Amino acid sequence: MNKFADSARKSVMHITPYIPGKPIEEVQREYGVRDVVKLASNENPLGPSRLAVKAISKKLGALNLYPESGAFYLRRALAKHLKIKENTLIFGNGSNELLHLIAEAFVSPGDEVMFSALSFVVYPIATDLAGGTAIQIPHKNFSHDIDGFIKRLSPGTKLIYICNPNNPTGTFISKEEFEKLMSAVSPKTIVALDEAYFEYVQDKNFPDGIKYLSKYPNLIVLRTFSKVYGLAGARIGYAAADPDIIEIIERIRAPFNASTPAQAGAEAALKDGAHIKKTLKTNSEGKSYLYSELKKLGIEFVPTQGNFIFVKFMSNCKVVFEELLKKGVIIRPQFDNYARITIGAMAENRKLIKALKTVK
Ligand SMILES: Cc1ncc(COP(=O)(O)O)c(C=O)c1O
Repeated sequence: MNKFADSARKSVMHITPYIPGKPIEEVQREYGVRDVVKLASNENPLGPSRLAVKAISKKLGALNLYPESGAFYLRRALAKHLKIKENTLIFGNGSNELLHLIAEAFVSPGDEVMFSALSFVVYPIATDLAGGTAIQIPHKNFSHDIDGFIKRLSPGTKLIYICNPNNPTGTFISKEEFEKLMSAVSPKTIVALDEAYFEYVQDKNFPDGIKYLSKYPNLIVLRTFSKVYGLAGARIGYAAADPDIIEIIERIRAPFNASTPAQAGAEAALKDGAHIKKTLKTNSEGKSYLYSELKKLGIEFVPTQGNFIFVKFMSNCKVVFEELLKKGVIIRPQFDNYARITIGAMAENRKLIKALKTVK
């Protein structure tokens, strides 16, 4: 029992803390294995773009200065890239920060916040912190149950988080499902469409949130430089929305939340088409390899649109997780027999499959 529990805000003590994946060094120390691969946090196995590293290095001598609070150059480059207006963008210390700021800006105690019960773990945390009431919609075949969402809409629904493609399952909602939801939602209800894995999507029926911004002024699209751009350690993500929504979130954004190296790295990574292409090719090849090897092993999985696969082992995921750690492979246990595994570089995927042959 925490002796300050009574002093903390009730909503804070209600939160189940986010437990990040184990870092490589910790596993090396604890399990005495030298060669460790981390397939737990959906990071880019190729590392950051070299152009980004160069741009970041150039900024190191100016670390005595605060960053550009409005991310002037990155904003200009990203707006051009997405073909949207500069005043429709806001940057965060990772898109994680923006997920929180959205709840803080729009949710008052007692307001309902709706999201899938099998989705990104930050949504319930942001909801609790804002004092909102979480309305968790059970998943349907590991995907968002859009009809289930629509049935539970009420005048009290203030915010809806949709994760597309969904973390941890890799499923997606189609254009038709997205449009059905948006037509059913009140224009005053904010819909935060989290597209952290957008760039990996291969299905043509996937709705590109940015293209819907002019049609739905209550829509916020979130993306990140942590995944395909390989800059998870720099901490930078963004949201795009109607300027009036952006203006409200800007009121509570901490000044200088996106660091100078992060802004410079993101701007350079955006232009490194070769790195993005290579990353997508690696992911697509890794996905085909893992699909075929998992099938051979009799391990069930959910087809993915992301850089990770949701699998069902034959035994409890915690047991498999521990056994894999001993073999130098870090995955992300979920619940029961389910786990999420990041698609790695080919050597990492092979190491995973070799380890799974002895434990599943
Ligand atoms: C669905 C989803 N949204 C948001 C994030 C946050 O990413 P970041 O804060 O690194 O931009 C993640 C990270 O794993 C994610 O999986």
